[in-house]
Amino acid sequence: MSHKALINKLNEALGWELRAINMYAHYAANVRGIHRLQLAPMFSTEATESLAHANIVRQSIVKLQGIPVTDRNPQEITHTTDYSEMLQYSLETETQAAAVYGEVMIQLDVAEDQDLRDAIEQIYFAELRSVEELRLLMD
Ligand SMILES: [Fe+2]
Repeated sequence: MSHKALINKLNEALGWELRAINMYAHYAANVRGIHRLQLAPMFSTEATESLAHANIVRQSIVKLQGIPVTDRNPQEITHTTDYSEMLQYSLETETQAAAVYGEVMIQLDVAEDQDLRDAIEQIYFAELRSVEELRLLMD
């Protein structure tokens, strides 16, 4: 697998992280009702985590001598004030992000950079945990 394909896939992940930052910040600001007490801080934490992931992915792309994207993934961020809709959209986002990282992991199998592999693997596992956590929250 060429670095070019890996860089493209990492840029796809970066686009999803940039979108996630916006989505979670938007939901933290807009969530209404009693669940706001718990979900506003949770969405804020997710926004911060997405920012941290974006930083790691961006740095990885630079390390591979690629150019990181600056535009977020174009998939619409649906406005709502309903917490259960927010959780559903969050689950969909995390599921898609996890799938992209899963594809990155396959490409990293052939990469020689163990440090890079470890960094991305940690993000991949974090995305999987988010998916599971959201599934439990919606149960
Ligand atoms: Fe992430």
